[in-house]
Amino acid sequence: MYLTLDLGTTMKILLTEDELRRGIERIAGEIREYYQGRPLTIVAVLKGSVVLMSDLIRLLDMPLRIEIVRASSYRDSTRPGELKLKLDMLPSELKDREVLLVDDIFDTGYTLAEVLSQLARRHPAGLRSAVLLRKEGRCEVDVEPDFVGFDIPDRFVVGYGLDYQEMYRNLPHVAYLETEDL
Ligand code: IMP
Ligand code: MG
Repeated sequence: MYLTLDLGTTMKILLTEDELRRGIERIAGEIREYYQGRPLTIVAVLKGSVVLMSDLIRLLDMPLRIEIVRASSYRDSTRPGELKLKLDMLPSELKDREVLLVDDIFDTGYTLAEVLSQLARRHPAGLRSAVLLRKEGRCEVDVEPDFVGFDIPDRFVVGYGLDYQEMYRNLPHVAYLETEDL
């Protein structure tokens, strides 16, 4: 289905609300299975992971804390730029905590790798990562996320938290933005 939205861009739906829900139920199952009821600290990467976060945590039944970090890569359009991290909301110690980093998408992997290395310095008892989407054939780092919702082709996507120039995060599905719009 093609949709034309407010910025005059054309989109094709990649993952419907139903598909997203089933994918998130599956990762939630894997996360519950892995942690076996142990207390968990989720670290959400703002802003892209807010929608995933709110759906995911309601499917997790272990004792759970939420922390946040902010990452922005100052892409001029869709190309990666310099990564900026804001970690000041994070507790200085994550000792004895099982930490699960949650982000929207794993593209080149630089964001996830950098946030993971910053978190590792705070000595968590365990450190894993979960992403909604992973783009095929793009990884440039030697870490991979532990829990992945969907592997997707290398195309620019928006919705369900993901933005294009700060717009479209509120779409309930994930859609491709047609390349002539980028
Ligand atoms: P990475 O550091 O290259 O893995 O990029 C990760 C970050 O870039 C994500 O957290 C997103 O904010 C952004 N990003 C990468 N690909 C897309 C996309 O297709 N749509 C929207 N944002 C993206
Ligand atoms: Mg972004």
